Amino acid sequence: MSFISEDSISEIFTNCIKSRLIHQENDTSVIFYDFNQLANRISTLKAAFPDNTVHTSAIKANPIIKVLEKINELGLGVEAASEGELFLAKKSGFNSNQIVFDSPAKTRKEIEFAIESGIYINADSFMELERIHELNNLIKPLSRIGLRINPQVGYGTIAATSVGGDYSKFGVPLKEYRIEIIEAFLIYKWLSGIHMHIGSQGCSMQMLLNGFESGLQLITDIQLKTGNNIRFFDIGGGLPVSYHHDQNPPDINEYGTKIQELLKQYKLENLQLITEFGRYLHTNSGFTISKVEYVKQYIDSNTLIIHAGADLFLRECLNLGQWFHEFTLLDKNGKIKVSNSKIKYHIAGPLCFAGDIIARDIELPKADEGDYLVIHDTGAYTFGMWSKYVSRMFPKIIGITGKSFEIIRNRETPEDIYKFWSV
Ligand code: LLP
Repeated sequence: MSFISEDSISEIFTNCIKSRLIHQENDTSVIFYDFNQLANRISTLKAAFPDNTVHTSAIKANPIIKVLEKINELGLGVEAASEGELFLAKKSGFNSNQIVFDSPAKTRKEIEFAIESGIYINADSFMELERIHELNNLIKPLSRIGLRINPQVGYGTIAATSVGGDYSKFGVPLKEYRIEIIEAFLIYKWLSGIHMHIGSQGCSMQMLLNGFESGLQLITDIQLKTGNNIRFFDIGGGLPVSYHHDQNPPDINEYGTKIQELLKQYKLENLQLITEFGRYLHTNSGFTISKVEYVKQYIDSNTLIIHAGADLFLRECLNLGQWFHEFTLLDKNGKIKVSNSKIKYHIAGPLCFAGDIIARDIELPKADEGDYLVIHDTGAYTFGMWSKYVSRMFPKIIGITGKSFEIIRNRETPEDIYKFWSV
């Protein structure tokens, strides 16, 4: 379901054309991001969870600097999963104590940097704990270091984004290694947290809560058996959102209430929770508009060739059918096209491979060359997964705050592309 209505999208687009923020010849695709929607999500999130929770935004979901700066201004931290993301976090103004560092491939250098700067680290394996221990002398009493476990609560509906099944490349499997996990908290006295993340989209509320409860049971066990007074429980992200009007995702308030009940039941109200949501914060705050370059009408099929394909919508193209957005057709001036009779179109991108199709059999009014297609709910994991294949230029991003618009990232130029592939 689109949280930004078709009417306001049409109005925003028309205004941006009129005010020349959009250059219709060059801006064949434009991404929009609504800061007020983000602020709403953040306040709902804060209200749903215990007051002492530290909320972070997963940078990979939306790494645009102006968005990170806004997140900082609104009092959230960030989850970084690479050296690059750590750098983005620092440059966007986050203090070390607002940054959580996750990644299954942390180098010794990255670990040392994180410990020295006081960044929260989640170790992904026993091997990583050993590496951290080599830097024992850098660890201070206030260092915050957690261990990621895989609670093995099952796979969600989307295999490609499920990491909480029996096998996952992330975290230590809880069923097989419970004893060793507990022992680790005995050996490494500096360990002070448990981390988990079981998947992104496709996880039911029950799965998320099962994961949460198994974390609380483990924490209770560790505290009893080792005397290690675990301070942090990082529950990752994974709250699904709706991309379609008939989808009914779990409700954040219900999730927060159940979490608070479980904390009480396990007498762990003093535990500090950390969250790392990405999709929940960003998806519904963004939309993309792309020009219809060609309308291919054949006997058996109709295809719209637009300027956004697997470069911008990698997941949608790879998991066609499991992942779909809603679409609205605008005319060349940005007015919504309406018609009682609809035509089924495949929506294809500009890249040179057969899988460059973001949706099939989408019913739309009759499309014409020069129209614009709105792809709704694109604020998370779209441009964050940008692909350089075929050297397309990254589109312009326009930030919306109420009635005002500003460019928050310029469209790439041919020179930028040249630079990317140069020495
Ligand atoms: N924390 C960790 C450790 C993660 O790996 C992720 C996402 C998150 C938090 C945020 O999860 P969220 O709240 O956004 O569901 N479109 C990508 C999604 C991969 C998700 C990666 N991890 C894909 O299609 O592969």
